[in-house]
Amino acid sequence: MRVLVVGNGAREHAIAWKIGQSPRLEKLFVAPGNSGTSDFAENVTVKSDDVEGLLDFAIQEGIDLTVVGPEIPLEAGITDQFEASGLLIFGPTKRGARIETSKSFAKALIQRHGVPTATASIFDDYGEAVRHVKGGSVPVVIKADGLAAGKGVIVAESHKDAVTALEALMVDRVFGNSGDRVLVEEYLDGREISVFAFVDGPRVSSLVAACDYKRIGDGDTGSNTGGMGAYSPPIPELWNPDLERLVMEDIMIPVAQALAEDSSPYRGVLFAGLMVTDDGPKVIEFNCRFGDPEAQVVLRRLENDLLEAMIATAEGRLEDLCLEWDNRSAVAVVIASGGYPESYETGQPITGLNNLDDGVVAFHAGTSNSSGQRVTDGGRVLTVTSLANSVEDARYLAYANVNRIKFEGSYYRTDIAAPEQYGIAEKNLRGK
Ligand code: AMP
Ligand code: GLY
Repeated sequence: MRVLVVGNGAREHAIAWKIGQSPRLEKLFVAPGNSGTSDFAENVTVKSDDVEGLLDFAIQEGIDLTVVGPEIPLEAGITDQFEASGLLIFGPTKRGARIETSKSFAKALIQRHGVPTATASIFDDYGEAVRHVKGGSVPVVIKADGLAAGKGVIVAESHKDAVTALEALMVDRVFGNSGDRVLVEEYLDGREISVFAFVDGPRVSSLVAACDYKRIGDGDTGSNTGGMGAYSPPIPELWNPDLERLVMEDIMIPVAQALAEDSSPYRGVLFAGLMVTDDGPKVIEFNCRFGDPEAQVVLRRLENDLLEAMIATAEGRLEDLCLEWDNRSAVAVVIASGGYPESYETGQPITGLNNLDDGVVAFHAGTSNSSGQRVTDGGRVLTVTSLANSVEDARYLAYANVNRIKFEGSYYRTDIAAPEQYGIAEKNLRGK
């Protein structure tokens, strides 16, 4: 098969790497890809949001399957356009993608089907939203309805911060029309997990879960980022057979069924961001794609042929598929450019990538080739992943290799999947 992967991050490198192992693959393209994907696939100079350009390319090159990594092209209707041209594509339609691209749509759908989630009120009017917030308790969560590059959610500790957030979204319109409508949501206390399934209409594959680390600093301090690391599976307090059954029956199946009734069949990955609370798991958000950096650990654990699984899902044959996840643990540590998520330098030569242990894979994001040398070209530069019998062994292996990769100003968190984190989690859970 001739396959096109859309996107340019470490998530898309991981997807392409896994598809690259399929005996059914004849030729792999990545648009636009990165210097990591150029090692084994052909990068195409079409941006991931250029739906027309991608369609032209797919027709011209006789692409048999297109796989969409990020949410932006899904919101733009890439699946609708490819399907209208008779092309097979993995990812939901524009209508299905609303589970991520409109938080008010998602909230209404999940509430209507009795899926556990934070209570929320929806506002189109700034004055009404402010009055509601002032009359309520804090902390409170303010969310832009539309896509905001992961920055549209503010957990406000005070009434003043909540009003400031509403003003930024609704008056200053810092995310444009994404913030014209907002959700004011109940604050949920607990620990977060990310749960993934392949979905084909009302059918849901077996689940896989991961934990990611969003803050820049050790101990979950500092600014929010695109993700600084992940591990899978989560500790047993957060993910065990009982919780998995609950998430499947009370969350994933009802939402897949609701989407199937609401729209053209949802076909792709469904990603539930959940808070594990004293009252059980509750939905924080849904996404219509794999997470980054969660994909980098989850795909290390996938035992199936990913290309086969994606074709079956896109063709509406998910019932033929039994997705199996390796029992071992995967850990991912992101190496960033110093200064990220604020300003940082690029063009720094990277060394050590040819000296990685067996079982370790470094997925590229912000890298490029310059005069035959691999150099930095972004904030999050690489995701170093490992697979081992225990999370402790996987963590040790990941960091042993992270320490070999060097460039000027490199930065990474030292506590990804660390025992301290387990300690904190267990203490919090026990303390309740
Ligand atoms: P989202 O963009 O929806 O993933 O939200 C970003 C982050 O905000 C989440 O990963 C949580 O850490 C936090 N968050 C979102 N909603 C809530 C909530 N209702 N209660 C507590 N934290 C939340
Ligand atoms: N890691 C969270 C996300 O990809 O949205």
